[in-house]
Amino acid sequence: MAQSSVPSDVPDIGRRQFMNLLTFGTITGTALGALYPIVKYFIPPSSGGAGGGVTAKDALGNDILASEFLAAHPVPGDRSLSQGLKGDPTYLIISEDNSLRDYGLNAICTHLGCVVPWNMAENKFKCPCHGSQYDTTGKVIRGPAPLSLALAHAEITEDDKIEFTPWTETDFRTGDDPWWA
Ligand code: FES
Repeated sequence: MAQSSVPSDVPDIGRRQFMNLLTFGTITGTALGALYPIVKYFIPPSSGGAGGGVTAKDALGNDILASEFLAAHPVPGDRSLSQGLKGDPTYLIISEDNSLRDYGLNAICTHLGCVVPWNMAENKFKCPCHGSQYDTTGKVIRGPAPLSLALAHAEITEDDKIEFTPWTETDFRTGDDPWWA
């Protein structure tokens, strides 16, 4: 008499539920990744110093040491992401003289919040979501993004850290008040 090869103690419904769970996990993981910029928008600002400054951190949340960072990024024009004010992804920029530029650029696209990658070959930031472009200083040069990338002051501290502080002065790229302040 023919018998099923599936042991009776492994019910099909259990396997189906498990597969559903895996699928659900994959979909929700993807969805959460896509929703990151939106969710992040509603999270209140995280801790900061009395003046609103924060220490730049790497992807693991460790403080970036300026000397190590500069040694690891010897190419002028390099733009590398760090965690900046409010935990936002923020570019640290290497100047022509291999020093750290005194401002960082918030990498969040001003259109709908995608993280904008730096395109070294084309010498500009290009948003992969809807094609906005920003020049080397983060000034918007092509929409649909309505505004330039937000600025933050970046300064090396005495203890070899990098501190971001809010940029509240005139936006040197536009001559306007900072839209993000
Ligand atoms: Fe960058 Fe739309 S989110 S162009």
